[in-house]
Amino acid sequence: MTTSNDKMIQIFDTSLRDGEQTIGVNFSIEQKIQIAKQLEKWGVDIIEAGFPVASPDDFKAVKAVAENVDHACVTGLARAKKADIDACVEATKNAKNKQIHVFIGTSPIHREYKLHMTKAENLAVIRKCVSYANQFFDKVQFSPEDATRTEPEYLVEAINVAIDAGATVINIADTVGYTNPIEFGRLFDYMRANVPRFDDVIFSVHCHDDLGMSVANAIAGVEHGASRIEGTVNGIGERAGNTALEEVAAAFMVRSDYYPYKTNINLKATKETADMISEFTRMPIPHNKAIIGQNAFSHESGIHQDGMLKNRNTYEILTPESVGMDATHIILGKLSGSHAVMQELQKMGYEVDREAMATIFPEFKRVADKQPIVNDHDLASIMKKIGVVANAK
Ligand code: KIV
Ligand code: ZN
Repeated sequence: MTTSNDKMIQIFDTSLRDGEQTIGVNFSIEQKIQIAKQLEKWGVDIIEAGFPVASPDDFKAVKAVAENVDHACVTGLARAKKADIDACVEATKNAKNKQIHVFIGTSPIHREYKLHMTKAENLAVIRKCVSYANQFFDKVQFSPEDATRTEPEYLVEAINVAIDAGATVINIADTVGYTNPIEFGRLFDYMRANVPRFDDVIFSVHCHDDLGMSVANAIAGVEHGASRIEGTVNGIGERAGNTALEEVAAAFMVRSDYYPYKTNINLKATKETADMISEFTRMPIPHNKAIIGQNAFSHESGIHQDGMLKNRNTYEILTPESVGMDATHIILGKLSGSHAVMQELQKMGYEVDREAMATIFPEFKRVADKQPIVNDHDLASIMKKIGVVANAK
């Protein structure tokens, strides 16, 4: 159970920006407005609506989201360049609540090969752009891109410069999903020890899923001092995607005995939010996806079904209803046990008991061995073959 002492963790959704960087995804402006409204209903604190300088449509979309969102903070992304910042200023000018997100690569590989900058040049650009953005926004988020592959001593230097120039949020980007929870935690401990104004700003985490650790890394960041998590719905995003926000929110709820954190996410609206993203990205939710996959609350093996029928806590740590999914499903297949088959037959109106199952169950197994699942229609055929007719329900 969450308590009033739990620390509030801000949820920053970048489905409309990093999420739109998913191969094959291109939201229309209308879709962006619809998604932003749904994100607000879901309870996210900050919506990254796009990258205004990237294209005229991206600019229009950020502007439209800024004008259609009621209370969530709206942000646009800007490289550390005046033109990008100016585009963000213009695109978000009508937002009731806004911030800017300025980023630049800080790792050796980014400095040397992408930016062709020395450390001194890199620091000068950070100082100049963050202070420029600070003239227009009360809330300025600075992201050292590829922070987890940046020399920790230099990362701290860059962060200190950004804070001195007016950054109010420092977003530690694991741009290529390279870190792991223990290492990320240590990086936060190092920053806390070496950033004198660590507690004066919000530390945020932005993790990618290249090694499948983005949710764990983001949570490790929070355990070591971050109070904002960036991510996307369904974990969409560049390459292997971003931290799946529904997984973070559910983890904090289910393991509230362990995590002293809460979010503003209304978990019951998770499924409808996930479905909208899935529809607009044309990316079906994998069946085995945590929290919202159709198998997340389905049980096929006999041992699990028997446990579930006795007490659902045996094999479910959260209820489907708590995340807006319809119900638990007992799926019949070759691994199912007689208890589950009997219960399904009773639901269909057959008066069957354990004795009758001695005849029915071998026939069920014979059918189940030959097909992936056995549905009600198949069960009715089995009963007909055996010569049993259902009572009208
Ligand atoms: O992955 C990344 O580094 C980003 C930045 C813009 C924060 O998306
Ligand atoms: Zn990213």
